[in-house]
Amino acid sequence: MKKIAVIGAGLTGAAAARTLVQQGFLVTVFDKGRSAGGRMSSKRTDQGYLDLGAQYFTARSDVFKQQVQLWLEGGQAEVWPCTTVLLAHEDGLSSLKSSRDEQTRFIGVPSMQSPVKALLQDIALITACRIQKLSYQQQSWSLLSDEGQIYAGFDAVLLTLPPAQAQQLMAQSSLPVRFENTADVLEPCWAVAMQAEASPAGDAIFCQHPKLRFISHQQHKTGRNSCYILHFNAAFSAEHLHKPPEFWFAEARVILSEELKIQQSIEPLVAHRWLYASQNDQVPAPGLITLPDQQLWAGGDWSYGGRLENAYLAGLKLAQAVIHSYKLQQETV
Ligand code: FAD
Ligand code: NAI
Repeated sequence: MKKIAVIGAGLTGAAAARTLVQQGFLVTVFDKGRSAGGRMSSKRTDQGYLDLGAQYFTARSDVFKQQVQLWLEGGQAEVWPCTTVLLAHEDGLSSLKSSRDEQTRFIGVPSMQSPVKALLQDIALITACRIQKLSYQQQSWSLLSDEGQIYAGFDAVLLTLPPAQAQQLMAQSSLPVRFENTADVLEPCWAVAMQAEASPAGDAIFCQHPKLRFISHQQHKTGRNSCYILHFNAAFSAEHLHKPPEFWFAEARVILSEELKIQQSIEPLVAHRWLYASQNDQVPAPGLITLPDQQLWAGGDWSYGGRLENAYLAGLKLAQAVIHSYKLQQETV
């Protein structure tokens, strides 16, 4: 039985691992985080979860629609009954406009990572384990963790990390770096959670704004702390990348009080910096990165244009690449 190491337990890694296990491969998934989910994670608090990363997902392809249907039936996802609004900014003035649409938007329940955890059920998952180096000898891969632990005997490795992190791992492993033009595919995002009453305008606020990308209120999300989450846009996040949480709380407070006209108390909860968050529209999506001779494959949401659906599809494509390569080997023996 072929042994496969999947590095990264986000939606890409989980979709790849599930597909490979269904095809009879022996899979172990590694993640540096304390649990699976990656950028689809929510932070647990006494008042409920905070969705600091992905806010919702849409399903456009048939294959992802089928997977979402399974999550809905399994109780790991729900439709988010949100009201959509546009925060526009022209000539220095902001205005909130109704922007209702027919798009169905889904959330994980009780937290965003629930669908990822469902895919990984019964699959070997090693968390709090950052892989810092790979080595390939006699057609077998070994993985070295930050703690000095060695995991050996893998026939193939899938990297499902943001490209800058995959590039770093490849470089430290003296492997040919194939990410020269892709390391800047993903841009940063500061995410800030603030306790405040919900604006009557709506709970999914798309922003055409010099600082912001998206604001959501979690009042209609099952299992969540009923608060605001503000996502600052890539340019503003990059400009102030190293500013402390207090800077972000102050920015968020001004936006909620002056632009959303929140009158009641506004309390800071959490500020989180994502170094690799969203697709840079200026860099073409590179597809999968492959080293077939060494059975090494890399991909993620960034391979196909960002978004959770593309992470899922990248996971399927990575698994198919492995399956296809072993079929070819069998045919040539
Ligand atoms: P990731 O989720 O990043 O998974 C990679 C995993 O690799 C991580 O868990 C990480 O811990 C692990 N890792 C990294 N390095 C190592 C290492 N050396 N060793 C071991 N493990 C390692 N998409 C939407 O569709 N809708 C949204 O509303 C939305 N909003 C977003 C808001 C924010 C703030 C962010 C950050 C993203 C958002 N996205 C959204 C994008 C979506 O979250 C991603 O497309 C998706 O989660 C990517 O999944 P992935 O598995 O490819 O990567
Ligand atoms: P979607 O179809 O809801 O949104 C796609 C984009 O269309 C939005 O970003 C927005 O610009 C626009 N849009 C959609 N509905 C709108 C409305 N009613 N009014 C005004 N504008 C509207 O969902 P899809 O295609 O699944 O995209 C996922 C979402 O994840 C996007 O909103 C994307 O921006 C967001 N995302 C955020 C990241 C971050 O760093 N904060 C990272 C990656 C994705």
